Amino acid sequence: MEFTFRAAADESLPRLQALLVDEGAIPSWLEQSVLQGAEAARFTGKTGQIFETYVERDGSLVRLALAGAGKPRASDRVAAAERTGAALAARFLTSGETKLALDLGQADFSPETASAVLIGLRLRCWRHDAYRTKLKDEQKRSLAQTIVINAPEGTEAAWNVEQALAEGVEFTRELVTEPANIIYPESFVDRCKARFEGTDAQIRVLDEQEMQNLGMGALLGVAQGSVRKPRLLAIVWNGGKQGEAPAAFVGKGVTFDTGGISIKPAAGMEDMKWDMGGAGAVAGAMLAIVKRKAKANVVGICGLVENMPDGNAQRPGDVVTSMSGQTVEVINTDAEGRLVLCDALSWVQQEYSPSAIIDLATLTGAMIVALGHEYAGLFSNEDALAGKLEAAAKTSGDKLWRMPLGAAYDKLIDSPIADMKNVGPRWGGSITAAQFLQRYINDGTPWAHLDIAGMAWADKPGATWDKGATGYGARLLDRYVRDNLEG
Ligand code: BES
Ligand code: MN
Ligand code: ZN
Repeated sequence: MEFTFRAAADESLPRLQALLVDEGAIPSWLEQSVLQGAEAARFTGKTGQIFETYVERDGSLVRLALAGAGKPRASDRVAAAERTGAALAARFLTSGETKLALDLGQADFSPETASAVLIGLRLRCWRHDAYRTKLKDEQKRSLAQTIVINAPEGTEAAWNVEQALAEGVEFTRELVTEPANIIYPESFVDRCKARFEGTDAQIRVLDEQEMQNLGMGALLGVAQGSVRKPRLLAIVWNGGKQGEAPAAFVGKGVTFDTGGISIKPAAGMEDMKWDMGGAGAVAGAMLAIVKRKAKANVVGICGLVENMPDGNAQRPGDVVTSMSGQTVEVINTDAEGRLVLCDALSWVQQEYSPSAIIDLATLTGAMIVALGHEYAGLFSNEDALAGKLEAAAKTSGDKLWRMPLGAAYDKLIDSPIADMKNVGPRWGGSITAAQFLQRYINDGTPWAHLDIAGMAWADKPGATWDKGATGYGARLLDRYVRDNLEG
Protein backbone atom coordinates (compact mmCIF):
# COMPACT_ATOMS: atom_id res chain seq x y z
CA MET A 1 0.00 0.00 0.00
CA GLU A 2 1.35 3.35 -1.05
CA PHE A 3 0.44 6.44 0.97
CA THR A 4 0.53 10.00 -0.32
CA PHE A 5 -0.38 13.09 1.67
CA ARG A 6 -2.34 16.10 0.51
CA ALA A 7 -3.28 19.19 2.45
CA ALA A 8 -6.86 19.31 1.23
CA ALA A 9 -9.11 17.99 -1.45
CA ASP A 10 -8.01 20.56 -4.01
CA GLU A 11 -7.08 18.19 -6.80
CA SER A 12 -9.50 15.60 -8.02
CA LEU A 13 -10.09 12.67 -5.74
CA PRO A 14 -10.66 9.01 -6.55
CA ARG A 15 -14.16 7.61 -6.52
CA LEU A 16 -13.69 5.80 -3.24
CA GLN A 17 -13.58 8.22 -0.32
CA ALA A 18 -13.59 7.49 3.37
CA LEU A 19 -14.44 9.98 6.06
CA LEU A 20 -13.43 9.13 9.61
CA VAL A 21 -15.92 10.25 12.22
CA ASP A 22 -15.85 10.19 16.00
CA GLU A 23 -18.63 8.45 17.84
CA GLY A 24 -21.76 10.58 17.95
CA ALA A 25 -20.19 13.30 15.80
CA ILE A 26 -21.34 12.71 12.24
CA PRO A 27 -20.74 16.02 10.40
CA SER A 28 -24.05 17.73 9.74
CA TRP A 29 -22.89 19.21 6.42
CA LEU A 30 -23.06 15.76 4.82
CA GLU A 31 -25.77 15.16 2.25
CA GLN A 32 -29.20 14.39 3.71
CA SER A 33 -29.18 11.00 2.01
CA VAL A 34 -25.92 10.14 3.77
CA LEU A 35 -27.13 11.33 7.17
CA GLN A 36 -30.41 9.49 6.89
CA GLY A 37 -28.78 6.39 5.43
CA ALA A 38 -26.25 6.25 8.26
CA GLU A 39 -28.99 6.57 10.82
CA ALA A 40 -31.04 3.88 9.14
CA ALA A 41 -28.01 1.59 9.17
CA ARG A 42 -27.43 2.32 12.88
CA PHE A 43 -24.06 3.88 12.16
CA THR A 44 -22.97 6.03 15.10
CA GLY A 45 -19.20 6.16 14.65
CA LYS A 46 -18.30 3.32 17.01
CA THR A 47 -14.82 1.93 16.45
CA GLY A 48 -14.58 -0.09 13.28
CA GLN A 49 -18.15 0.56 12.08
CA ILE A 50 -18.43 1.32 8.39
CA PHE A 51 -21.35 2.78 6.48
CA GLU A 52 -21.01 2.71 2.72
CA THR A 53 -23.15 4.67 0.28
CA TYR A 54 -23.05 6.49 -3.03
CA VAL A 55 -23.49 10.23 -3.53
CA GLU A 56 -23.22 12.57 -6.45
CA ARG A 57 -20.74 15.41 -5.98
CA ASP A 58 -19.92 17.95 -8.69
CA GLY A 59 -21.50 15.69 -11.24
CA SER A 60 -19.46 12.59 -10.37
CA LEU A 61 -20.33 9.49 -8.48
CA VAL A 62 -18.61 9.14 -5.11
CA ARG A 63 -18.43 5.84 -3.28
CA LEU A 64 -18.46 7.19 0.24
CA ALA A 65 -17.60 5.32 3.40
CA LEU A 66 -18.10 6.69 6.87
CA ALA A 67 -15.71 4.92 9.23
CA GLY A 68 -16.19 4.99 12.98
CA ALA A 69 -13.18 6.11 15.01
CA GLY A 70 -14.84 5.68 18.41
CA LYS A 71 -14.73 8.11 21.32
CA PRO A 72 -12.01 10.77 21.04
CA ARG A 73 -10.89 10.46 24.64
CA ALA A 74 -11.06 6.68 24.91
CA SER A 75 -8.08 5.20 26.76
CA ASP A 76 -7.52 2.83 23.85
CA ARG A 77 -7.73 5.55 21.22
CA VAL A 78 -4.53 4.47 19.44
CA ALA A 79 -5.59 0.83 19.22
CA ALA A 80 -9.08 1.89 18.17
CA ALA A 81 -7.64 4.11 15.42
CA GLU A 82 -5.69 1.12 14.18
CA ARG A 83 -8.82 -1.01 14.11
CA THR A 84 -10.62 1.71 12.16
CA GLY A 85 -7.93 1.70 9.50
CA ALA A 86 -7.93 -2.09 9.45
CA ALA A 87 -11.72 -2.22 9.06
CA LEU A 88 -11.48 0.02 6.00
CA ALA A 89 -8.79 -2.20 4.54
CA ALA A 90 -10.77 -5.38 5.11
CA ARG A 91 -13.83 -3.78 3.53
CA PHE A 92 -12.21 -2.33 0.41
CA LEU A 93 -9.15 -4.49 -0.24
CA THR A 94 -10.91 -6.45 -2.97
CA SER A 95 -13.64 -3.90 -3.68
CA GLY A 96 -12.49 -3.23 -7.22
CA GLU A 97 -11.31 0.25 -6.24
CA THR A 98 -7.58 0.88 -6.64
CA LYS A 99 -7.37 4.20 -4.81
CA LEU A 100 -8.80 5.46 -1.57
CA ALA A 101 -9.05 9.05 -0.41
CA LEU A 102 -8.85 8.98 3.37
CA ASP A 103 -10.15 12.12 5.05
CA LEU A 104 -8.80 12.45 8.60
CA GLY A 105 -9.97 16.02 9.04
CA GLN A 106 -13.33 15.43 10.74
CA ALA A 107 -12.22 13.26 13.64
CA ASP A 108 -10.23 14.49 16.62
CA PHE A 109 -6.86 12.95 15.74
CA SER A 110 -3.32 13.69 16.84
CA PRO A 111 -0.42 12.82 14.54
CA GLU A 112 -0.02 9.66 16.62
CA THR A 113 -3.62 8.48 16.33
CA ALA A 114 -3.80 9.54 12.67
CA SER A 115 -0.76 7.48 11.85
CA ALA A 116 -2.28 4.58 13.81
CA VAL A 117 -5.16 4.63 11.30
CA LEU A 118 -2.61 4.32 8.53
CA ILE A 119 -0.70 1.45 10.09
CA GLY A 120 -3.93 -0.44 10.73
CA LEU A 121 -4.92 0.10 7.12
CA ARG A 122 -1.58 -0.99 5.77
CA LEU A 123 -1.16 -4.06 7.96
CA ARG A 124 -4.66 -5.34 7.24
CA CYS A 125 -4.00 -5.02 3.51
CA TRP A 126 -1.07 -7.40 3.59
CA ARG A 127 -1.55 -10.67 1.77
CA HIS A 128 0.65 -13.33 0.26
CA ASP A 129 -0.86 -14.27 -3.10
CA ALA A 130 2.34 -15.32 -4.85
CA TYR A 131 1.26 -18.94 -5.20
CA ARG A 132 -2.37 -18.33 -6.12
CA THR A 133 -2.44 -18.38 -9.91
CA LYS A 134 -6.16 -18.92 -10.36
CA LEU A 135 -7.73 -16.16 -8.28
CA LYS A 136 -10.93 -14.85 -9.79
CA ASP A 137 -10.93 -11.15 -10.57
CA GLU A 138 -13.21 -10.34 -7.68
CA GLN A 139 -10.89 -12.15 -5.27
CA LYS A 140 -7.84 -10.22 -6.33
CA ARG A 141 -6.54 -7.38 -4.32
CA SER A 142 -7.44 -4.08 -5.96
CA LEU A 143 -6.66 -1.37 -3.42
CA ALA A 144 -3.08 -0.19 -3.84
CA GLN A 145 -2.96 3.50 -2.99
CA THR A 146 -4.25 5.74 -0.23
CA ILE A 147 -4.38 9.51 -0.55
CA VAL A 148 -4.48 10.96 2.94
CA ILE A 149 -6.20 14.31 3.17
CA ASN A 150 -6.73 16.79 6.00
CA ALA A 151 -4.34 14.93 8.30
CA PRO A 152 -3.26 16.82 11.41
CA GLU A 153 0.08 18.62 11.16
CA GLY A 154 2.91 16.18 11.85
CA THR A 155 1.14 13.05 10.65
CA GLU A 156 3.46 12.52 7.71
CA ALA A 157 6.52 12.69 9.96
CA ALA A 158 4.94 10.26 12.43
CA TRP A 159 4.03 7.96 9.57
CA ASN A 160 7.58 7.94 8.22
CA VAL A 161 8.65 6.29 11.49
CA GLU A 162 5.62 4.02 11.73
CA GLN A 163 6.09 2.89 8.16
CA ALA A 164 9.37 1.23 9.11
CA LEU A 165 7.47 -0.78 11.66
CA ALA A 166 4.91 -1.84 9.07
CA GLU A 167 7.74 -3.07 6.86
CA GLY A 168 9.11 -5.07 9.75
CA VAL A 169 5.78 -6.70 10.59
CA GLU A 170 5.23 -7.53 6.93
CA PHE A 171 8.68 -9.08 6.67
CA THR A 172 7.92 -11.29 9.67
CA ARG A 173 4.65 -12.38 8.06
CA GLU A 174 6.35 -13.09 4.76
CA LEU A 175 9.00 -15.31 6.35
CA VAL A 176 6.40 -17.14 8.44
CA THR A 177 4.02 -17.65 5.50
CA GLU A 178 6.54 -19.06 3.06
CA PRO A 179 6.51 -22.87 2.97
CA ALA A 180 9.50 -24.89 4.09
CA ASN A 181 10.59 -25.81 0.56
CA ILE A 182 11.10 -22.10 -0.06
CA ILE A 183 12.34 -20.88 3.34
CA TYR A 184 15.04 -23.11 4.83
CA PRO A 185 18.12 -21.98 6.74
CA GLU A 186 20.17 -20.81 3.76
CA SER A 187 17.26 -19.15 1.96
CA PHE A 188 16.14 -17.47 5.20
CA VAL A 189 19.59 -15.90 5.33
CA ASP A 190 19.38 -14.89 1.66
CA ARG A 191 16.00 -13.21 2.18
CA CYS A 192 17.43 -11.26 5.06
CA LYS A 193 20.53 -10.25 3.14
CA ALA A 194 18.37 -8.98 0.30
CA ARG A 195 16.01 -7.12 2.62
CA PHE A 196 18.77 -5.42 4.59
CA GLU A 197 20.80 -4.50 1.52
CA GLY A 198 21.52 -0.81 1.34
CA THR A 199 20.95 -0.34 5.09
CA ASP A 200 23.67 0.24 7.67
CA ALA A 201 23.01 -3.07 9.40
CA GLN A 202 25.76 -5.69 9.44
CA ILE A 203 24.88 -9.27 8.58
CA ARG A 204 26.99 -12.10 9.96
CA VAL A 205 26.43 -15.75 9.11
CA LEU A 206 27.98 -18.84 10.68
CA ASP A 207 27.99 -22.01 8.59
CA GLU A 208 28.09 -25.60 9.77
CA GLN A 209 31.88 -25.78 9.97
CA GLU A 210 32.13 -22.62 12.05
CA MET A 211 29.45 -23.88 14.40
CA GLN A 212 31.30 -27.16 14.66
CA ASN A 213 34.47 -25.30 15.61
CA LEU A 214 32.55 -23.45 18.30
CA GLY A 215 31.24 -26.73 19.71
CA MET A 216 27.55 -26.13 19.05
CA GLY A 217 26.67 -29.80 19.41
CA ALA A 218 23.09 -29.18 20.50
CA LEU A 219 22.10 -27.09 17.49
CA LEU A 220 24.04 -29.33 15.10
CA GLY A 221 22.45 -32.44 16.55
CA VAL A 222 19.04 -31.15 15.48
CA ALA A 223 20.30 -30.20 12.03
CA GLN A 224 22.04 -33.51 11.27
CA GLY A 225 18.88 -35.31 10.14
CA SER A 226 18.26 -32.85 7.32
CA VAL A 227 19.93 -32.26 3.97
CA ARG A 228 19.41 -28.53 4.58
CA LYS A 229 22.49 -27.05 6.17
CA PRO A 230 22.02 -25.05 9.40
CA ARG A 231 22.95 -21.40 9.77
CA LEU A 232 23.37 -18.97 12.61
CA LEU A 233 22.42 -15.48 11.48
CA ALA A 234 23.27 -12.24 13.27
CA ILE A 235 21.80 -8.90 12.24
CA VAL A 236 23.78 -6.18 13.98
CA TRP A 237 22.60 -2.60 14.41
CA ASN A 238 24.75 0.04 16.06
CA GLY A 239 22.55 3.11 16.17
CA GLY A 240 23.28 3.94 19.80
CA LYS A 241 26.30 5.03 21.81
CA GLN A 242 29.57 3.61 20.59
CA GLY A 243 30.76 0.78 22.78
CA GLU A 244 27.49 0.45 24.70
CA ALA A 245 26.47 -3.18 25.20
CA PRO A 246 23.64 -4.12 22.85
CA ALA A 247 20.32 -5.70 23.66
CA ALA A 248 20.08 -9.14 22.08
CA PHE A 249 17.02 -10.69 20.46
CA VAL A 250 17.31 -14.42 19.78
CA GLY A 251 14.80 -16.32 17.65
CA LYS A 252 14.02 -20.00 17.18
CA GLY A 253 14.25 -20.61 13.47
CA VAL A 254 13.23 -24.22 12.89
CA THR A 255 12.22 -23.84 9.25
CA PHE A 256 10.35 -27.12 9.47
CA ASP A 257 9.73 -29.31 12.50
CA THR A 258 8.77 -32.89 11.69
CA GLY A 259 9.70 -33.84 15.24
CA GLY A 260 12.69 -35.81 13.94
CA ILE A 261 12.81 -39.48 14.97
CA SER A 262 10.22 -38.65 17.66
CA ILE A 263 8.06 -37.85 14.66
CA LYS A 264 4.87 -35.82 14.91
CA PRO A 265 1.49 -37.17 13.77
CA ALA A 266 0.57 -36.38 10.15
CA ALA A 267 -2.52 -34.31 10.93
CA GLY A 268 -1.56 -30.67 11.16
CA MET A 269 2.13 -31.23 10.62
CA GLU A 270 2.05 -28.64 7.83
CA ASP A 271 1.70 -26.02 10.55
CA MET A 272 5.30 -26.65 11.47
CA LYS A 273 6.47 -24.49 8.58
CA TRP A 274 5.93 -21.62 10.99
CA ASP A 275 8.20 -23.08 13.64
CA MET A 276 10.60 -20.30 12.64
CA GLY A 277 8.19 -17.65 13.93
CA GLY A 278 10.62 -16.53 16.64
CA ALA A 279 13.39 -15.98 14.10
CA GLY A 280 10.87 -14.29 11.80
CA ALA A 281 9.89 -11.89 14.59
CA VAL A 282 13.54 -11.10 15.29
CA ALA A 283 14.28 -10.43 11.60
CA GLY A 284 11.16 -8.25 11.26
CA ALA A 285 11.90 -6.29 14.42
CA MET A 286 15.46 -5.72 13.27
CA LEU A 287 14.19 -4.46 9.92
CA ALA A 288 11.92 -1.96 11.67
CA ILE A 289 14.72 -0.83 13.98
CA VAL A 290 17.20 -0.48 11.14
CA LYS A 291 14.79 1.26 8.76
CA ARG A 292 13.81 3.88 11.29
CA LYS A 293 17.45 4.22 12.34
CA ALA A 294 16.77 3.59 16.01
CA LYS A 295 19.20 5.23 18.42
CA ALA A 296 20.12 1.99 20.13
CA ASN A 297 22.53 -0.92 19.82
CA VAL A 298 20.72 -4.16 19.09
CA VAL A 299 21.72 -7.57 17.75
CA GLY A 300 19.21 -10.02 16.32
CA ILE A 301 20.20 -13.69 16.25
CA CYS A 302 18.37 -16.40 14.34
CA GLY A 303 19.16 -20.06 15.00
CA LEU A 304 18.21 -21.73 11.73
CA VAL A 305 17.79 -25.48 11.28
CA GLU A 306 15.40 -28.01 9.79
CA ASN A 307 14.31 -30.90 12.06
CA MET A 308 14.06 -34.02 9.89
CA PRO A 309 14.25 -37.78 10.52
CA ASP A 310 16.74 -39.19 8.01
CA GLY A 311 19.31 -41.97 8.45
CA ASN A 312 21.74 -39.55 10.05
CA ALA A 313 19.20 -38.03 12.41
CA GLN A 314 19.91 -37.97 16.12
CA ARG A 315 18.22 -40.65 18.20
CA PRO A 316 16.30 -40.45 21.45
CA GLY A 317 18.85 -41.12 24.16
CA ASP A 318 21.75 -39.49 22.33
CA VAL A 319 23.92 -37.24 24.47
CA VAL A 320 25.14 -34.01 22.87
CA THR A 321 27.59 -31.41 24.14
CA SER A 322 26.48 -27.81 23.79
CA MET A 323 28.76 -24.81 23.19
CA SER A 324 28.56 -24.01 26.91
CA GLY A 325 30.16 -27.37 27.69
CA GLN A 326 26.97 -28.64 29.33
CA THR A 327 25.76 -32.01 28.10
CA VAL A 328 22.19 -32.87 27.16
CA GLU A 329 20.43 -36.21 26.96
CA VAL A 330 18.04 -35.92 24.01
CA ILE A 331 15.02 -37.81 25.31
CA ASN A 332 12.69 -36.48 22.64
CA THR A 333 13.96 -35.20 19.29
CA ASP A 334 10.79 -33.14 18.97
CA ALA A 335 11.93 -30.89 21.82
CA GLU A 336 14.41 -29.39 19.36
CA GLY A 337 13.77 -25.67 19.78
CA ARG A 338 15.57 -25.48 23.12
CA LEU A 339 18.54 -27.37 21.63
CA VAL A 340 18.84 -24.76 18.90
CA LEU A 341 18.34 -21.82 21.23
CA CYS A 342 20.80 -22.93 23.89
CA ASP A 343 23.76 -22.70 21.52
CA ALA A 344 22.50 -19.44 20.04
CA LEU A 345 22.21 -18.04 23.58
CA SER A 346 25.75 -19.13 24.48
CA TRP A 347 27.12 -17.62 21.32
CA VAL A 348 25.44 -14.25 21.69
CA GLN A 349 26.70 -13.93 25.26
CA GLN A 350 30.27 -14.83 24.29
CA GLU A 351 30.27 -12.62 21.23
CA TYR A 352 28.35 -9.52 22.34
CA SER A 353 28.04 -9.51 26.17
CA PRO A 354 24.52 -8.11 25.78
CA SER A 355 22.90 -5.88 28.43
CA ALA A 356 19.73 -7.98 28.16
CA ILE A 357 18.58 -10.98 26.17
CA ILE A 358 15.07 -11.61 24.89
CA ASP A 359 14.43 -14.87 23.09
CA LEU A 360 11.31 -15.70 21.10
CA ALA A 361 10.26 -19.20 20.16
CA THR A 362 7.31 -21.29 19.07
CA LEU A 363 8.61 -23.58 21.74
CA THR A 364 5.83 -25.70 23.26
CA GLY A 365 2.34 -26.92 22.52
CA ALA A 366 1.82 -26.68 26.27
CA MET A 367 1.96 -22.90 25.98
CA ILE A 368 -1.13 -22.99 23.76
CA VAL A 369 -2.86 -25.25 26.26
CA ALA A 370 -2.15 -22.67 28.97
CA LEU A 371 -2.84 -19.35 27.23
CA GLY A 372 -4.61 -20.17 23.98
CA HIS A 373 -4.12 -17.66 21.20
CA GLU A 374 -4.46 -14.47 23.25
CA TYR A 375 -1.15 -14.12 25.07
CA ALA A 376 2.38 -15.35 24.59
CA GLY A 377 4.07 -16.65 27.73
CA LEU A 378 6.74 -14.49 29.36
CA PHE A 379 9.44 -16.06 31.51
CA SER A 380 12.16 -13.92 33.04
CA ASN A 381 14.94 -13.97 35.60
CA GLU A 382 14.50 -10.24 36.28
CA ASP A 383 11.36 -8.40 37.37
CA ALA A 384 12.53 -5.11 35.85
CA LEU A 385 12.94 -6.62 32.39
CA ALA A 386 9.66 -8.51 32.73
CA GLY A 387 7.92 -5.24 33.63
CA LYS A 388 9.36 -3.44 30.62
CA LEU A 389 8.19 -6.23 28.34
CA GLU A 390 4.73 -6.27 29.88
CA ALA A 391 4.49 -2.53 29.27
CA ALA A 392 5.67 -2.91 25.66
CA ALA A 393 3.13 -5.70 25.21
CA LYS A 394 0.28 -3.45 26.33
CA THR A 395 1.33 -0.57 24.08
CA SER A 396 2.09 -2.67 21.02
CA GLY A 397 -0.86 -5.04 21.24
CA ASP A 398 1.45 -8.10 21.14
CA LYS A 399 0.18 -9.43 24.45
CA LEU A 400 2.25 -11.19 27.12
CA TRP A 401 1.38 -13.06 30.29
CA ARG A 402 4.05 -13.76 32.89
CA MET A 403 4.73 -17.35 33.88
CA PRO A 404 6.78 -18.73 36.79
CA LEU A 405 10.32 -20.09 36.98
CA GLY A 406 11.95 -21.78 39.96
CA ALA A 407 14.24 -24.44 41.37
CA ALA A 408 11.41 -26.96 41.81
CA TYR A 409 10.80 -26.86 38.07
CA ASP A 410 14.49 -26.80 37.25
CA LYS A 411 15.25 -30.10 38.91
CA LEU A 412 12.67 -31.82 36.73
CA ILE A 413 15.13 -31.76 33.82
CA ASP A 414 18.06 -33.36 35.64
CA SER A 415 19.31 -36.41 33.74
CA PRO A 416 20.78 -39.67 35.10
CA ILE A 417 23.46 -39.71 32.39
CA ALA A 418 24.13 -36.09 31.39
CA ASP A 419 23.86 -32.59 32.87
CA MET A 420 20.24 -32.32 31.82
CA LYS A 421 17.64 -33.91 29.61
CA ASN A 422 15.77 -31.97 26.95
CA VAL A 423 12.27 -32.71 28.29
CA GLY A 424 10.68 -32.86 31.71
CA PRO A 425 7.45 -34.59 32.72
CA ARG A 426 4.22 -33.87 30.84
CA TRP A 427 2.92 -31.21 33.23
CA GLY A 428 4.32 -27.71 33.15
CA GLY A 429 5.98 -28.38 29.80
CA SER A 430 6.39 -24.70 28.89
CA ILE A 431 8.04 -23.98 32.22
CA THR A 432 10.56 -26.82 32.09
CA ALA A 433 11.42 -25.69 28.55
CA ALA A 434 12.12 -22.21 29.93
CA GLN A 435 14.18 -23.71 32.77
CA PHE A 436 16.27 -25.51 30.17
CA LEU A 437 17.06 -22.19 28.46
CA GLN A 438 17.85 -20.49 31.74
CA ARG A 439 20.65 -22.98 32.32
CA TYR A 440 22.47 -21.25 29.46
CA ILE A 441 22.13 -17.69 30.76
CA ASN A 442 25.17 -16.27 32.58
CA ASP A 443 24.57 -15.09 36.13
CA GLY A 444 23.63 -11.42 36.22
CA THR A 445 22.40 -11.19 32.64
CA PRO A 446 18.77 -10.05 32.45
CA TRP A 447 16.95 -12.51 30.26
CA ALA A 448 13.40 -13.10 29.09
CA HIS A 449 11.99 -15.98 27.12
CA LEU A 450 8.77 -15.50 25.13
CA ASP A 451 6.97 -18.69 24.15
CA ILE A 452 4.97 -17.53 21.12
CA ALA A 453 3.68 -20.95 20.00
CA GLY A 454 0.05 -19.76 20.05
CA MET A 455 0.69 -16.38 18.47
CA ALA A 456 2.67 -16.68 15.24
CA TRP A 457 -0.25 -18.00 13.23
CA ALA A 458 -4.00 -17.37 13.37
CA ASP A 459 -6.84 -19.48 12.03
CA LYS A 460 -9.13 -16.48 11.81
CA PRO A 461 -8.72 -12.79 11.03
CA GLY A 462 -7.78 -10.50 13.92
CA ALA A 463 -7.57 -6.75 14.51
CA THR A 464 -4.89 -6.00 11.96
CA TRP A 465 -4.29 -9.33 10.28
CA ASP A 466 -6.08 -11.75 8.03
CA LYS A 467 -5.96 -15.44 8.90
CA GLY A 468 -2.40 -16.74 8.63
CA ALA A 469 0.83 -15.19 9.80
CA THR A 470 0.18 -12.46 12.38
CA GLY A 471 3.66 -10.93 12.55
CA TYR A 472 3.57 -11.33 16.33
CA GLY A 473 6.68 -10.13 18.12
CA ALA A 474 8.04 -7.58 15.67
CA ARG A 475 5.99 -4.74 17.14
CA LEU A 476 6.66 -5.88 20.69
CA LEU A 477 10.44 -5.79 20.24
CA ASP A 478 10.36 -2.51 18.35
CA ARG A 479 8.30 -0.98 21.15
CA TYR A 480 10.68 -2.35 23.78
CA VAL A 481 13.55 -0.64 21.98
CA ARG A 482 11.69 2.66 21.60
CA ASP A 483 10.60 2.89 25.20
CA ASN A 484 13.69 1.54 26.95
CA LEU A 485 16.79 1.90 24.83
CA GLU A 486 16.28 5.15 22.94
CA GLY A 487 16.21 8.78 23.97
N1 BES B 1 7.46 -26.51 17.57
C1 BES B 1 6.95 -27.35 18.60
C2 BES B 1 5.96 -26.62 19.51
C3 BES B 1 4.65 -26.24 18.87
C4 BES B 1 3.62 -27.14 18.81
C5 BES B 1 4.47 -24.95 18.38
C6 BES B 1 2.42 -26.78 18.24
C7 BES B 1 3.27 -24.61 17.82
C8 BES B 1 2.23 -25.52 17.76
C9 BES B 1 8.08 -27.86 19.48
O1 BES B 1 9.27 -28.08 18.82
C10 BES B 1 7.63 -29.16 20.02
O2 BES B 1 7.47 -30.07 19.26
N2 BES B 1 7.45 -29.22 21.33
C11 BES B 1 7.01 -30.39 21.97
C12 BES B 1 7.82 -30.58 23.22
C13 BES B 1 7.63 -31.93 23.87
C14 BES B 1 8.24 -32.99 23.00
C15 BES B 1 8.28 -31.88 25.22
C16 BES B 1 5.54 -30.22 22.29
O3 BES B 1 5.13 -29.11 22.63
O4 BES B 1 4.80 -31.19 22.13
MN1 MN C 1 9.39 -30.02 17.95
ZN1 ZN D 1 9.62 -26.96 17.14
